[in-house]
Amino acid sequence: MLEHGGRLLQAVKRYGLPRERWLDLSTGINPIPWQGLSPPAASWNRLPEDDDGLIEAAMSYYGGPKPLAVSGSQAAIQALPRLRPIARVGVPEPGYNEHGHRWKQAGHEVVPLASDDFAAALDRLDVLVVCNPNNPTGERVAPAQLLEWHARLSARGGWLVVDEAFADSTPETSVARFADREGLIVLRSLGKFFGLAGARVGFVFCAAAVLETVAAWLGPWSIAGPSRLVARAALSDRAWHDATRQRLRTDSLRLSEVLARHDLKPAGGCELFQWVRTVRSLEIHEALARHGVLTRRFDTPPSLRFGLPATADDWEHLEGALADVRRLEVPA
Ligand SMILES: Cc1ncc(COP(=O)(O)O)c(C=O)c1O
Repeated sequence: MLEHGGRLLQAVKRYGLPRERWLDLSTGINPIPWQGLSPPAASWNRLPEDDDGLIEAAMSYYGGPKPLAVSGSQAAIQALPRLRPIARVGVPEPGYNEHGHRWKQAGHEVVPLASDDFAAALDRLDVLVVCNPNNPTGERVAPAQLLEWHARLSARGGWLVVDEAFADSTPETSVARFADREGLIVLRSLGKFFGLAGARVGFVFCAAAVLETVAAWLGPWSIAGPSRLVARAALSDRAWHDATRQRLRTDSLRLSEVLARHDLKPAGGCELFQWVRTVRSLEIHEALARHGVLTRRFDTPPSLRFGLPATADDWEHLEGALADVRRLEVPA
């Protein structure tokens, strides 16, 4: 299994601080989730049904063709490599490491690519995976560019997979609405912007034939009934979407300024996290952990990702920890 953020219980054991003393900034999950519905008891008792309005709510929110609901976009990341003959697959590096891992696991040849190298590599690839924005760098590719790459790949029977897990704050950058085009596959998640990572709900947008193959591969009832109800209501809450976009923009900017003030100026990021490159990533990660602040550390390149604090106490906790770490003269 690969390493991921959000392993708070592991941190509790490792650093010996009780759970309530931790500020978990190790993921890009919105720390103030959508909370408009408690699933009724009956939703635990009945099998989930496909025609419960979830798909319509998703089409209206994302603006794409009819999607497939999946148990987190991770389910699609694992299924897609099983549905193609052996291929050369470009994946972002650094990037969400599950993509390369799952394609490799299914026997494909994986080519790790810096985002600047996507265009040059395209004609030698069968599949290109782009995270837009990228995690952890925050790099973005313009929709027109993605569509041009898609046209080149699909002309040879190739796929462009666009992982839009972090795109909810910038819906204008999404290519989901073009996903009825053969060979364009768009993945969405309710785990990040909506803060519903535990509900395990995501969507795949693509042409009908591939959609049916993914659906057949995953089988029936892949999402829990209570999760379906919560997801449908969250996708339909326009007022919350607007207010949350605003709040995340403000908080992300604030996080970037706080880090810069403590000599950790971000090299990239998006509305849900900031990414700091530093050769001292290990020392800083450890020092922050001793102050009860959990970050996500990356080896290549050495860097740290910081998610957003939620409350005034959280911001104070982070500021205090960063000031103490700097006082220990851990140079960035
Ligand atoms: C870029 C990216 N895509 C997809 C996922 C999977 O998220 P989920 O399965 O919760 O939709 C993650 C999780 O961290 C991610 O960072």
